[in-house]
Amino acid sequence: MEITNVMEYETIAKQKLPKMIYDYYASGAEDQWTLKENRNAFSRILFRPRILIDVSKIDMTTTVLGFKISMPIMIAPTAMQKMAHPEGEFATARAAAAAGTIMTLSSWATSSVEEIASTGPGIRFFQLYVYKDRNVVSQLVRRAERAGFKAIALTVDTPRLGRREADIKNRFALPSYLTLKNFEGLDLGKMDKTDDSGLASYAAGQVDRSLNWKDVKWLQTITSLPILVKGVITGEDAILAIQHGAAGIIVSNHGARQLDYVPATITALEEVVKAVQGRIPVFLDGGVRRGTDVFKALALGASGVFIGRPVVFALAADGEAGVWKVLQMLHDEFELTMALSGCRSLKEITRNHIMTDWDAPRAVSRL
Ligand code: FNR
Repeated sequence: MEITNVMEYETIAKQKLPKMIYDYYASGAEDQWTLKENRNAFSRILFRPRILIDVSKIDMTTTVLGFKISMPIMIAPTAMQKMAHPEGEFATARAAAAAGTIMTLSSWATSSVEEIASTGPGIRFFQLYVYKDRNVVSQLVRRAERAGFKAIALTVDTPRLGRREADIKNRFALPSYLTLKNFEGLDLGKMDKTDDSGLASYAAGQVDRSLNWKDVKWLQTITSLPILVKGVITGEDAILAIQHGAAGIIVSNHGARQLDYVPATITALEEVVKAVQGRIPVFLDGGVRRGTDVFKALALGASGVFIGRPVVFALAADGEAGVWKVLQMLHDEFELTMALSGCRSLKEITRNHIMTDWDAPRAVSRL
């Protein structure tokens, strides 16, 4: 059957993947309230389209940290993509390059920064988990820089791993035929099976829980790459990120996998945008599945969005072609949303093109 939207890949992935792997990709933390809310909150935002505007030409191109891309839709870091498909991150890198957009490679990828660089040209960011051993971190950042990665997405919402109950029940661990390739040479590439989530135990052993704002400054002493702070959901932290030299902010709740009962990212976005006051770009990830979602995020002030789960589900269903099709469908849907809203370029998308449930009720004129 023909795939006509991004969500359909999840159904196929669920049929194809072993339960332990599907559950790892799909799950959120605890009650998974935020997981549902990441989607539901988009559905409460409605459009105020403008009509009779010549939309025969639409320009969706944009620039992120100085790099021109085909559309404001990019790929978020998701760990261990070779569990979904043998080509894993290679397939994702090729699909992103073919679609003219940015891929973010996870620290916990099953392909190394060098391997991904070898797939050919493409703009790529590297997502960083800061390990307790700072030599490991410096080496990794230097390798990413040498391999041509253009920015560091520093994940700041994971001092400990959120409680994902399916992973605990399944005793989730990276299958033994795979390794966390970036750490292979450092003897940190394997994940033991434990009587818990193996990933939670691995993270508890390696990830530095003391990570704090001073480390954002420290990171700038070991790399000249711009730093995107990934995992901000309050205005207060957005201001601190600017004060500590962030080149951009990713409003993210880690796909609802960390602290449950944080708001949907699309709900938190405007507070962050207002605090930032245009000083640095603000991006969003979490629950983006439709071109209309992309439009809503841009109307609320995002410079672009990232997608997580759709990539791993499409990989599971159809490898590189699947990821390419996800990007293509979002591209086409977003273009259509722009046309039907009367917007010819990204800068024409404004707050007035949407209404939210936190907007003051509009005065209804009494005739
Ligand atoms: C993630 N995410 C994530 N984030 C990160 O900084 N490093 C990582 O290694 C991972 N790994 C990862 C694996 C899987 C399976 C998922 C679902 C998510 C979070 C990711 O970057 C992003 O914030 C969310 O996935 C965005 O939400 P959606 O698009 O999945 O709803």
